[in-house]
Amino acid sequence: MSPSDKQRDVTFRYEEIKEILAKVKAGDSCSVVGIGAVGKSNLLRHLLRPETQKHHLGDLASELKLVLIDPNNMLDSLPLLTGQQALSPWAGYEIMTHRLYKAFYPFTGFSDEDKKAFQYAYDQLHNGRNPLVAHIGLRYLETVLRILLGQPAAGGSRRRIAFVFDEFEGMLTQLPVKFFQSLRGIRDDYKYNLTYVTFTRRPIPQLIAELGFDHLAFEPFVELFTGNTLYLGPYSDADAKAMLDRLSERKGVTYPPSFRNFLLRVSGNHAGLLRASFDLAGQIAFGTPESEALRFLANSQPIQIECQTIWDSLSKGEQNALKDLVRQPGASDRNHTVIALLQDKHLLTGEGNNLQIVPILFREYVRQQSRLE
Ligand SMILES: Nc1ncnc2c1ncn2[C@@H]1O[C@H](COP(=O)(O)OP(=O)(O)O)[C@@H](O)[C@H]1O
Ligand SMILES: [Mg+2]
Repeated sequence: MSPSDKQRDVTFRYEEIKEILAKVKAGDSCSVVGIGAVGKSNLLRHLLRPETQKHHLGDLASELKLVLIDPNNMLDSLPLLTGQQALSPWAGYEIMTHRLYKAFYPFTGFSDEDKKAFQYAYDQLHNGRNPLVAHIGLRYLETVLRILLGQPAAGGSRRRIAFVFDEFEGMLTQLPVKFFQSLRGIRDDYKYNLTYVTFTRRPIPQLIAELGFDHLAFEPFVELFTGNTLYLGPYSDADAKAMLDRLSERKGVTYPPSFRNFLLRVSGNHAGLLRASFDLAGQIAFGTPESEALRFLANSQPIQIECQTIWDSLSKGEQNALKDLVRQPGASDRNHTVIALLQDKHLLTGEGNNLQIVPILFREYVRQQSRLE
């Protein structure tokens, strides 16, 4: 193992992972919100590694199973259900049951009876000949959870499950509200033994409002995350440097410290921007003045694409506030809610009349956007 890999093992996204796991340990769900390409999926992959869990949780790691749910792996509805607009909640129960099956296979430590019951529920969930399966899919997920976690609310069970959802907006847009109400329901059955960790680009309540969903119908589910939102920022200096080390190693190129610092500064330690800047760095001649190098990067297509990913992950209100900021840096009549959200998302530094957009490369992109109109 190289030193950079080792560092990643122990300290990568240390504070963030500590905070997420503290919520899970306390039996709370957690909503992780981060702008486009800030490194959400990367953090999540690190979180799912057994060594990471062991490091952060010690002995508790063996009691807690983190189960990844990625909407890109959801099945379409069974043939029986085609013709429907949205997916049936079945698709949601199916991926959760399937991922539990994979996570616990080969069910070491379970009785033969439990193994059989699990297999039966799993098979029944996929029995396309059963006309009721779409409607009773939840029952099979419940059966499986009962096997894994014990009777609802029964004491003594030491096993715990946290479902970790990447790109959770994919589930919000594809599955009906019934699915999310059931998530709340099964969580209440098992209390702190069952938690959810979601990764999204925007806060869940904002997504629900923008999608025009029924606020009240979603309320019981959304409430699980109240006070439990973690805004994911760019990498710490140590993580960003480790990322540069790894990229250097992989590509077999090293840059002088001053140039590495330049890349870190203009990308603001944002994963996507740092990665794209590193890939472009070979095209910048040694000794090029920084202002010129910045202009080259800001106008390059890979950086534009990364910046657009950030831009697209923002609401119209946030985009307008950023454009206002570059047009009228000293203005005092700003929308405080929007500014606060942009600060939470780590896109603004400074205060009052001294707000600055970061990362620097993104600031250049916003300047270009504001000139387009
Ligand atoms: N530690 C890292 N080392 C190398 N590349 C990284 C690292 N973290 C993120 N990246 C790259 O940065 C980009 C954005 O990261 P990703 O985790 O996909 O962000 P998000 O899920 O927030 O959109 C991806 O191209 C990813 O490969
Ligand atoms: Mg991602």
